[in-house]
Amino acid sequence: MIDPAPAELFIGLMSGTSQDAIDGVLAEFPADAQPRIIATRSTPLEARLRRQLDELQRPGSGDLDLALRLHHELGHRFADCALNLLSTARVPPHAVRAIGSHGQTVRHSPEGTAPYSLQLGNAALIAVRTGIATVADFRSTDIAAGGQGAPLAPAFHQAVFGTTGRRRAVLNLGGMANVSLLGADVSGWDVGPGNVLLDLWALRHLGQPFDADGRFASTGTVDASLLAALLTHPFMARPPPKSTGREDFNPRWLDGLLAGFPNLHPADIQATLAEFTAVGVVQALASQPEVEVLLVCGGGARNADLLRRIARRLPALDIGTTSRAGIDPQWVEALAFAWLARQRVHETALDLGRITGARQPVILGCIYMP
Ligand SMILES: Nc1ncnc2c1ncn2[C@@H]1O[C@H](COP(=O)(O)OP(=O)(O)O)[C@@H](O)[C@H]1O
Ligand SMILES: [Mg+2]
Repeated sequence: MIDPAPAELFIGLMSGTSQDAIDGVLAEFPADAQPRIIATRSTPLEARLRRQLDELQRPGSGDLDLALRLHHELGHRFADCALNLLSTARVPPHAVRAIGSHGQTVRHSPEGTAPYSLQLGNAALIAVRTGIATVADFRSTDIAAGGQGAPLAPAFHQAVFGTTGRRRAVLNLGGMANVSLLGADVSGWDVGPGNVLLDLWALRHLGQPFDADGRFASTGTVDASLLAALLTHPFMARPPPKSTGREDFNPRWLDGLLAGFPNLHPADIQATLAEFTAVGVVQALASQPEVEVLLVCGGGARNADLLRRIARRLPALDIGTTSRAGIDPQWVEALAFAWLARQRVHETALDLGRITGARQPVILGCIYMP
């Protein structure tokens, strides 16, 4: 009898469009079973770093020095996170096959004649400081093959949450929101903003980085005219494949719209922004009546108000978090990048045609050796 292939260890490092924290997982991937998370770590990004990232992302800003400084600084932060995971789990670096590091997106512009997506966080530094092969730049090859470069997680969602039972969808509520419709013909796309506008308004009116549990939103009343105005954003009507970022949903765009609503109470605006996120999700799922179960992940899974808004508009759907399928919603995205690193080192091509729109199967990511 042939011995089964041994389980391999991977690290996944993720910092999403919320710019809230670096999330890291160390996980074991058996050859033919579900991944098992061994250690987790979340390191918040401080206000200064978030401000600099915001500055870099303002359309038209082009400070290459700042970009390269942050590339270096974030590389060290990601390496710190990986080293912390190793020491927490008492796992030596040589036991880990590879690290998958998403990096911090500062530009995502997959349309047009010069499409690109740029993530900062020097992976050469991560590889050298940890002694572990590090996979980064997961989006460029997909874009070169005509894809959006995003979202990439639906392929992972299918691998870990796809079942032959009741038809499932996965909703990731990060800074942006993306939906995966699971099944042999898995598809997925960004449906609109997730938490990004809620965070922005919470910072402005509560002085908090986010609206904890959606409590502020839950005290307000949705303004139908503002909601209608938000829904006129051209991204909302575009058919998939599509992906979005802070280029589309940012303070400049929101303030431009809000100038037409000078008398609205801040809590009513928060409620309307939450409803806007919910409607984006509902628009994606309303045309998919065969979906029976919705598994939510990402930080927005903790926003009870937001989940209530989605449930109210989709009463037939059985809604829970990914915990129900064995993975804590906070770590799903980081685990996805550990899984993507595994696909890369095994040279597995992913067929993302129905997700990103790539014209051919693609091997994603670039490997930096220590
Ligand atoms: N208790 C909570 N209540 C409401 N929102 C929360 C809570 N915890 C986290 N969040 C939201 O989740 C966001 C982080 O989610 P995350 O999945 O890390 O997104 P990203 O991948 O974009 O970084 C925070 O910015 C915040 O909006
Ligand atoms: Mg985050």
